[in-house]
Amino acid sequence: MPDARPDRPSSSRRPSPTQAPGARSRDRRDKSAAHPLIPQPDHPIAFLRGFLERPKEVGSIIPSSRWMERRITRTAELATAKLAIELGPGTGGTTKALLQAMAPDATLLAIEINPGFCDLIRETIDDPRLIVHEGSAADIADALAKHDLGAPDVVLSGIPFSTMPRELGLAILRSVKESLAPGGRFVAYQFRDVVHTLGKQVFGAADVQLELLNVPPMRVYRWDMPTGSR
Ligand SMILES: C[S@@+](CC[C@H](N)C(=O)[O-])C[C@H]1O[C@@H](n2cnc3c(N)ncnc32)[C@H](O)[C@@H]1O
Repeated sequence: MPDARPDRPSSSRRPSPTQAPGARSRDRRDKSAAHPLIPQPDHPIAFLRGFLERPKEVGSIIPSSRWMERRITRTAELATAKLAIELGPGTGGTTKALLQAMAPDATLLAIEINPGFCDLIRETIDDPRLIVHEGSAADIADALAKHDLGAPDVVLSGIPFSTMPRELGLAILRSVKESLAPGGRFVAYQFRDVVHTLGKQVFGAADVQLELLNVPPMRVYRWDMPTGSR
């Protein structure tokens, strides 16, 4: 994929004076690839600041736990996905976990509405498989068209459906359904069950799991698209 994409992550934008462009992020990625269970640095302060600035949009004061990240990657069966979309990557902790679980030739499109979070992810994650798109989860088709991508196998969402207007929540869920490939899956993780209440109207009932090792404990919902048609 060409590097000229405007939304491509570019850690080389702000290299330290003593470093080759992109060197620091590459080092970090290489270390985590060699030791996949070592926790990666997160950005709790940037996350909290994001929450204080836009509480309803961010919906949580801390990012998801490592256990939560593992549960969503397993539930979404990310290792088999060619194209996955993350809705609401926040400061990128979940994004790194998704990339670790994905194949070397896969693509992850991260759609985030908060421009500050988009900048942070672009600056801290140097991975050619990642495309960061600033925009709304209600406009998945536009994001796919802009980046010349087809239908995703997987959509994951950490966005807070309980603090957004019901109509926006339904628009996001319809946007997910319309974008997914036949046989694709949608995984949403939430503290409250609003996403399931709305999701029943769009997809039907979900498979539900509970992850206790997260603050707060979260429900994880999975919906599967029919294989033949949408
Ligand atoms: C609870 S945080 C989840 C962050 C991260 N995925 C995690 O689990 O730690 C929710 C994120 O969804 C983003 N968000 C909220 N509404 C959105 C929308 N309509 N489209 C895209 N992102 C949205 C927020 O800016 C925030 O980054």
